[in-house]
Amino acid sequence: MLGRLNHVAIAVPDLVAATAIYRDTLGASVSAPQALPEHGVTVVFVDTGNTKIELLQPLGEGSPIASFLARNPSGGMHHLCYEVDDIIAARDRLTASGARILGDGTPKIGAHGKPVLFLHPKDFAGTLVELEQA
Ligand code: CO
Repeated sequence: MLGRLNHVAIAVPDLVAATAIYRDTLGASVSAPQALPEHGVTVVFVDTGNTKIELLQPLGEGSPIASFLARNPSGGMHHLCYEVDDIIAARDRLTASGARILGDGTPKIGAHGKPVLFLHPKDFAGTLVELEQA
């Protein structure tokens, strides 16, 4: 079921500073910032060749990463995203095994225009997991 690691998301309080660390200090190729108001974040994509890092900064009121940054003021790893071939089959398999899906279990369109779901961190080794239909 589990496919490749699509991205690692890092929530940051200062997107400009975090982008500079990846671009200038680490020498990575980074995208321009993209505002995603429907997701409550502004994102910069870092290309690491075998996967991506997504730097996320809150955008607007009620951002889904606001409470994470309140607990982790200097930022931190927010979630991992794995690809799956069939997100409905993956959801049904996980629910049948007792794992909890966040929200109402209906896939939403994620930052890459593909259906995504988030899995409860308490059921996945303390890590928020995103599944994206590849
Ligand atoms: Co993500």
